Amino acid sequence: MSETTRKILITSALPYANGSIHLGHLVEYIQTDIWARFQKQRGHECYYVCADDAHGTPIMLRARAEGIEPETLIERVWQEHTEDFAGFHIGFDNYHSTHSPENRELATLIYERNRDAGHIVRKTIQQAYDPEAGMFLPDRFIKGECPRCGAPDQYGDSCEACGATYAPTELKNPRSAVSGATPETRESEHLFFRLSDFETVLKQWHQAGHVQAEMANKLEEWFEAGLADWDISRDAPYFGFEIPDAPGKYFYVWLDAPVGYMASFRNLCDKAGIDFDAYWGADSDAELYHFIGKDIIYFHALFWPAMLAGAGFRMPTAVWAHGFLTVDGAKMSKSRGTFIKARTYLKHLNPEYLRYYFAAKLGARIDDLDLNLEDFAQRVNSDLVGKVVNIASRCAGFIHKRFDGRLSAQCSEPGLYGEFVAAGESIAAHYEAREYGRAVREIMALADRANQYIDEQKPWVVAKQDGQEALLQDICSTGINLFRVLIGYLKPILPRLAAEAETFLAIDPMGWDSQAEPLTDHVINRFKPLMTRVEMSRIEAMIEDSREDLQAEAEASGGEAAAEEMEPIAETIGFDDFAKLDLRIARIARAEAVEGADKLLRLTLDLGGETRNVFAGIKSAYAPEDLEGRLTVMVANLAPRKMRFGVSEGMVLAAGPGGRELFILSPDSGARPGMRVI
Ligand code: MSP
Ligand code: ZN
Repeated sequence: MSETTRKILITSALPYANGSIHLGHLVEYIQTDIWARFQKQRGHECYYVCADDAHGTPIMLRARAEGIEPETLIERVWQEHTEDFAGFHIGFDNYHSTHSPENRELATLIYERNRDAGHIVRKTIQQAYDPEAGMFLPDRFIKGECPRCGAPDQYGDSCEACGATYAPTELKNPRSAVSGATPETRESEHLFFRLSDFETVLKQWHQAGHVQAEMANKLEEWFEAGLADWDISRDAPYFGFEIPDAPGKYFYVWLDAPVGYMASFRNLCDKAGIDFDAYWGADSDAELYHFIGKDIIYFHALFWPAMLAGAGFRMPTAVWAHGFLTVDGAKMSKSRGTFIKARTYLKHLNPEYLRYYFAAKLGARIDDLDLNLEDFAQRVNSDLVGKVVNIASRCAGFIHKRFDGRLSAQCSEPGLYGEFVAAGESIAAHYEAREYGRAVREIMALADRANQYIDEQKPWVVAKQDGQEALLQDICSTGINLFRVLIGYLKPILPRLAAEAETFLAIDPMGWDSQAEPLTDHVINRFKPLMTRVEMSRIEAMIEDSREDLQAEAEASGGEAAAEEMEPIAETIGFDDFAKLDLRIARIARAEAVEGADKLLRLTLDLGGETRNVFAGIKSAYAPEDLEGRLTVMVANLAPRKMRFGVSEGMVLAAGPGGRELFILSPDSGARPGMRVI
């Protein structure tokens, strides 16, 4: 390798300790993990650390609602997160918590150094206070009517119905989301970090290319708007670290959260004997990278580097933001079943499918990324199963049966093999630049090339010809060797598949350059299918399973989760669009359970002259016998949909988030089956 060994520390944002890991989060952890694995495979000294973000009001209140101590809650969630990440092969070198002694010590140190250098000021502010709960209220915990459009039940910072943003004091009929009490305004002294002290330092840092171009533009806007002082303290009761020289006041969660990167690394250093200062000291020559989502740029590109600079630590080499995940083109939705938790996914599908799909779609920019479920299945099946694994399965059988697993003594296609090896440089450059999609495209082009070689050589024909043993062995050995190079390139994305391929090939774990020479006169093991196809039915089952989650959660939190799901009103449509809907009154003639379906009822609907067979996901909400004879409203001109249990010819209308909370619509008395609803 021409490059010298680099020292690299990599982080992903710390997930909050009050919720489950979902596929949106995984965009980030998979993106980061691929980069970390790539750097390690290149032979660099590289550490990837993360932690749970365990402090703040939501975590304190969640623990209270469950009737447990916050420490108990964060311990349980840490366990869950750790298992979920392991399930997706996220290879952290350390996974810590911000509620740790290392973090308390480092957060305090960073605060005190900034304070002693004059970057902390105290100011008295006015804030909403809940007299019943005895606490100050963050904006998100005040609800009321939108001052612009009057929509009820809106949060204190913005309206989900009309998109207006405002101060919580502008809400009409405000009340506390904690107790329901009307908030009062009270005064309290807070500590502020003077971000503007760092304007020059930050500008220099941004201009030196430490952030993406798109991010630099955003930062330019923020500089123009002026850097305001940042409120870093919160009053008790709060779950966090008490500020040493301000009793009863706590560090705001976002102060000690990024320090959690350092604390997790410190904890690793103590366990593994690594030199902490070599990575964090002001004159460190190590590289430090933070992978984050686009929603938390302000914290990572302004506050965090400024805090580090103010405390005499090095600043990050780069902060890299990615976009947000959508599923089938829309925001993840609990009611549609597209809010998919890591755990739910793992019950149904192989984690490497998702790693591959995300990699194929990831680039270095901040663009959002869509998980299209059909495309997902199709892509994994055609690329990984149909192309890559297929190369090995086409060649391994002959090598095993005819040559006792032994590969030819020399490579019969040095030119072709050389092309595969030479492609490594540009593939590596794509990984390095976080252009995984490009890396994947190049790797798949090579896979096509390998399959084309096998198609041309037709080993299955050669196998039937007498006296062509050597040729057959050569063709299949070349195929196996090309496969090996491809797996080496895919290893950062598919670590599990690579490990299984290494076992099959009977080789040591592959580095980036260890495929420079082909395997010759080498005995490989019997081939076992390395990956099976994605079945659409598994995806459907996962979606169904995800719908269930909402109901369980709604019950656990007394309806809160369901209320949170309240979707904004959809885009305006014209009357013509509305007129396309043919809604009819229908009589439920029969309702019956469907064998093998947890949530479906089969309804026979009488439209006054015509009957329809409709599968409705209302089994958790209604007993079949309660429905028979009832009138309801159905969409009569919906295209028939083939389901696992038969064809569904329409849809009945119901309100609610789903699960047990579903309410079928009924017409007033007098309406008759078949009447059009307008
Ligand atoms: N606790 C803070 C981060 C503190 S870092 C010092 C936080 N936690 S989070 O759990 O809300 O998000 C963790 C990471 O996942 C963030 O980088 C966030 O942008 C990312 N994502 C959360 N939902 C996401 C999607 N739907 N899509 C892509 N990334 C998403 O923020
Ligand atoms: Zn509004």
